[in-house]
Amino acid sequence: MVAKTFGSAVHGVDAKTIAVEVDVSQGQKFFLTGLPDNAIKESQHRVESAMKSLHYFFPRNKVVVNLAPADIRKEGSAYDLPIALCILSASGQIETELLEQYVIMGELSLDGKLRPIKGVLPISIQSRKENFKGLILPKANAREAAIVNNLDIIGVETLQEAIDFIEGHLVIEPLVVDTREVFQSKLNSYDADFRDVQGQENIKRALEIAAAGGHNAIMIGPPGAGKTMLAKRLPSILPPLTLNEALETTKIHSVAGKVGSDASLMTTRPFRSPHHTISDVALVGGGGNPQPGEISLSHNGVLFLDELPEFKRTVLEVMRQPMEERRVTISRAKVSIDYPANFMLVASMNPCPCGYYHHPEKECVCGPGIVQRYLSK
Ligand SMILES: Nc1ncnc2c1ncn2[C@@H]1O[C@H](COP(=O)(O)OP(=O)(O)O)[C@@H](O)[C@H]1O
Ligand SMILES: [Mg+2]
Repeated sequence: MVAKTFGSAVHGVDAKTIAVEVDVSQGQKFFLTGLPDNAIKESQHRVESAMKSLHYFFPRNKVVVNLAPADIRKEGSAYDLPIALCILSASGQIETELLEQYVIMGELSLDGKLRPIKGVLPISIQSRKENFKGLILPKANAREAAIVNNLDIIGVETLQEAIDFIEGHLVIEPLVVDTREVFQSKLNSYDADFRDVQGQENIKRALEIAAAGGHNAIMIGPPGAGKTMLAKRLPSILPPLTLNEALETTKIHSVAGKVGSDASLMTTRPFRSPHHTISDVALVGGGGNPQPGEISLSHNGVLFLDELPEFKRTVLEVMRQPMEERRVTISRAKVSIDYPANFMLVASMNPCPCGYYHHPEKECVCGPGIVQRYLSK
């Protein structure tokens, strides 16, 4: 018998709907087709254990799982749940007509519990676009998915709950969040506020001008002058996020799996402060399974490079192009992915290696040549 449902593949900050088809027939062995990566290939073992722990059986016949369209690469562990439900249905262990009306995503643990997944917001946006009835996914991701309205968001905690829901034995009310209201009520509630800064009128003025125009800024001063403190409080004087900006930024954080379980739409501008040992890929994005980097995570917010001269030269070089284009393009042999990267760059540094060049009270111990070399780095 054949069973079919839908999943979703995240590509950049957008999602594509993927049909998950399972055929259980005479024969032996398990086949998985449709360009799956290793994490999906391993799903067989997770699915099998999860089914067994719930007293279902994994068919000992020929099982073919196909992820279509077959020419798009699929990544990650979130196909466990649709594969499991399709196998159960195709082997006649559950009875349902609903599988084809939903997009279903979730990672299974061996005892049948569901783990949160990445990229829920793009998946949910795409599901509504294609007029699906709803989205069945791990409960921890439900609030994030519920940013999108007119789509039934069904959060489940275990495979059993998903089975009971899809068979009609369990009623789960779709989660509804009034996104606009939550957004308005929490807008601009920053933990660190610019008003905490005492005195320092000149630098405050400079940062206000930078914030008003979205200019990049660098602060040079001795240790303890408050550079880090000022930078952290900069997002609080930037203009409030618009709903659109909030959506864009949340999408990127969603793809990176950085939206918490009780959070939905981001209501504050991001502030990212990567350590100076950061790699090129972690900063600009990319990797085997491409992920957004720090410059995209700070989209519509502030990227703070504390102690700028400590950063590797190459790291600063790779940022140049994204800073001009306000987006970063990651090219692979077959695909290229775009992540937005429109951020305000704020950097801080000491005026010289010892930190006290031109200090009113303390003596600088660096020779003149050293200071020059440090500043020109
Ligand atoms: N203008 C200021 N107003 C309030 N607190 C300040 C000010 N400048 C410095 N501080 C305090 O000094 C501490 C050290 O500042 P920090 O930002 O770490 O300095 P830097 O990064 O320049 O070395 C801060 O945590 C803050 O408590
Ligand atoms: Mg500092």
